[in-house]
Amino acid sequence: MSEAGIAEIAEIIDGKAFAAGLRARIGEAAEELQAKHGLIPGLAVVLVGENPASQVYVRNKAKQTREAGMASFEHKLAVDTRQDELLDLIRQLNDDPAVHGILVQLPLPDQIDAQAVLDAIAPAKDVDGFHIINAGRLMTGAGEPLVPCTPLGCTMLLKDRLGDLNGLNAVIVGRSNIVGKPMAMLLLAENCTVTVAHSRTRDLPGLCRTADILVAAVGRPEMIRGDWVKPGATVIDVGINRIDTDDGKTRLVGDVAFEEAAQVAGAITPVPGGVGPMTIACLLANTVTAACRQAGIEPPSF
Ligand code: GUN
Repeated sequence: MSEAGIAEIAEIIDGKAFAAGLRARIGEAAEELQAKHGLIPGLAVVLVGENPASQVYVRNKAKQTREAGMASFEHKLAVDTRQDELLDLIRQLNDDPAVHGILVQLPLPDQIDAQAVLDAIAPAKDVDGFHIINAGRLMTGAGEPLVPCTPLGCTMLLKDRLGDLNGLNAVIVGRSNIVGKPMAMLLLAENCTVTVAHSRTRDLPGLCRTADILVAAVGRPEMIRGDWVKPGATVIDVGINRIDTDDGKTRLVGDVAFEEAAQVAGAITPVPGGVGPMTIACLLANTVTAACRQAGIEPPSF
């Protein structure tokens, strides 16, 4: 609120524009790798079954990979694929020198043990950053992890907006392996004071109000209200929830009640157009990083 009592609207963090810029830098890096080293970064994406949302994601990943001048390998398997068949494919991809990154789209059908599949991916090619080796490297700071794409994208947006994150209070709502936990590690590495909140956290609104950086990754539409936000805070909304509207249609909303929070926050990511576009862009960045490391070339910093 301004001194005149007029509500000020937060800066909208344009993830779509940032991701487009990042993809352009990745495209330039890929062109240079090919020209100087004859190296074409290659990403293999594996989809099992016909989950409509997964089909859209996989199509977008393949399209954006090609648009960045990289090689895309798509493997679409039947919904009744057995675990050993999928593991055979992973072994082939691990051994294929044209493939530098492997992504198995989640969720997988029930007959397949997802963790066993993720653990079968060579850590050097694990561009999702879900392998235990990469999670362990991120946690300990030992070696060079491939970092999960969504929290990597959130960190880029935060550093772009805030510069130095040193000493800031960060509250992450959600403790998933894909977002919440790696996000905590990344912000800890930036010297934030990090709290990970979840469904059993007491006085969640009060805790959120302590956050200079508030990251919402719970998958519950508009759960985080405007009066949970500290004035001036930077709010990163990872949620992508489709809800029904009164006119019989649907629309996408985040985990944050955007209109309310934007009256209080200093900056906030919208849904759609905030964190979402950053995820695939970071997947491409990880593929370039993985390709460089496999070829013994210093990776570009994005
Ligand atoms: N399904 C939803 N998000 C993701 C992701 O980041 N990686 C993979 N592999 N599957 C997903």
